[in-house]
Amino acid sequence: MKRSIIAGIGKYIPEHVETNDDLSQIMDTSDAWIQERTGIKERHFADKHKDTPASMGAKAAEIAIERAGISKEDVDFIIFATLSPDYYFPGSGVLMQRELGIAHTEIGALDVRTQCTGFIYGLTVADQFIRTGMYKNILLVGAEKHSMGLDFTTRGRNVSVIFGDGAGAVVLQPVEDENRGILASALHSDGTHAEILAMVNPGSHGGYHHEKLGLEVDFGFSESRYDPIFVTRKMLDAAQLFPYMDGPTVFKIAVQKFPAAILEVLEKAGKKPAELDLLVPHQANLRISQFVAKRLGLKEDQVYNNIQRYGNTTAASIPIALCEAWEEGRVKEGDLVCLAAFGSGFTWGANLMRW
Ligand code: ACO
Repeated sequence: MKRSIIAGIGKYIPEHVETNDDLSQIMDTSDAWIQERTGIKERHFADKHKDTPASMGAKAAEIAIERAGISKEDVDFIIFATLSPDYYFPGSGVLMQRELGIAHTEIGALDVRTQCTGFIYGLTVADQFIRTGMYKNILLVGAEKHSMGLDFTTRGRNVSVIFGDGAGAVVLQPVEDENRGILASALHSDGTHAEILAMVNPGSHGGYHHEKLGLEVDFGFSESRYDPIFVTRKMLDAAQLFPYMDGPTVFKIAVQKFPAAILEVLEKAGKKPAELDLLVPHQANLRISQFVAKRLGLKEDQVYNNIQRYGNTTAASIPIALCEAWEEGRVKEGDLVCLAAFGSGFTWGANLMRW
């Protein structure tokens, strides 16, 4: 039976380093507060004009493609995960295809919109295509440019200190070895709490969901059929175009769902937490990772964390962390590796693989 393996992996981190001290110059926060609550020391911010999710994704992809020992023309499908796309439409997948110079190949490009869980969803979808034999070299990318749209005033500090920019990419290929590659996957969602971690504008909701939930928010819509609801003057004036997060609620649910997803894939494959060589969790918050590790009885060297240097890069965080772990020799052939994520939606999930 065919299994999917990660044949090549790469990352791209924009040059500019934004420290906690830098942020404390522009808003009421401190290095001590950020480190204590999140573990983050610094993050990288993209160049405003040159780095986009598609362009950063292409840079990470070129490395992954080279390490997989294939040429760009061999890629037969693209999956692109981001919550900060270059355009509202079309998706960043086709823009990255063009950036890579392979638009002429006319391969399919699918954009995934499951935020922090984007890489897990993308990997699971890619795995199905590889197993059925439909594709042989899938390029899966997670990339984010959060710095383009955060509220860098004291009003937005609970969100803006957490996020960073970057991209990670993998090339998936089939192997005829039942003991290698992706062994088990789990995907979940629960839309009950959709607005608890969300950026609802610009959008076409017209206030519908907020009204149904009994949330009294005035988005400044006019009654004219012909006035836009996508972006209104009120949204700009009232800071309604920024991400919103109820941090404590996200924390409470994340620390339940992360371990549940990890245990689910371990159980599916008949494995125990102690057998894991490395858990690479979505880098949401160092405290969440530590809580999950404790709940599963994992030792410190069984969990990879790099949020201290990159912040939370959402769909890019797992491929960046996995790439770094691989480059450091923390992931070797034969290792049992688990990837897991929880985030906006809520969505959560995990993949277990034998490297
Ligand atoms: N600097 C200083 N003070 C701050 C900051 C900041 N950056 N942000 C919030 N505060 C203040 C608040 O105003 C509040 O002050 P008050 O008590 O005077 O009202 C106080 O700190 C506590 O605020 P809380 O939001 O309750 O802070 P909490 O201790 O919960 O920490 C945090 C906030 C870090 C966001 C935490 O809730 C958390 O980690 N939640 C998980 C969410 C998460 O990880 N999200 C990542 C994105 S989602 C994902 O990837 C899963």
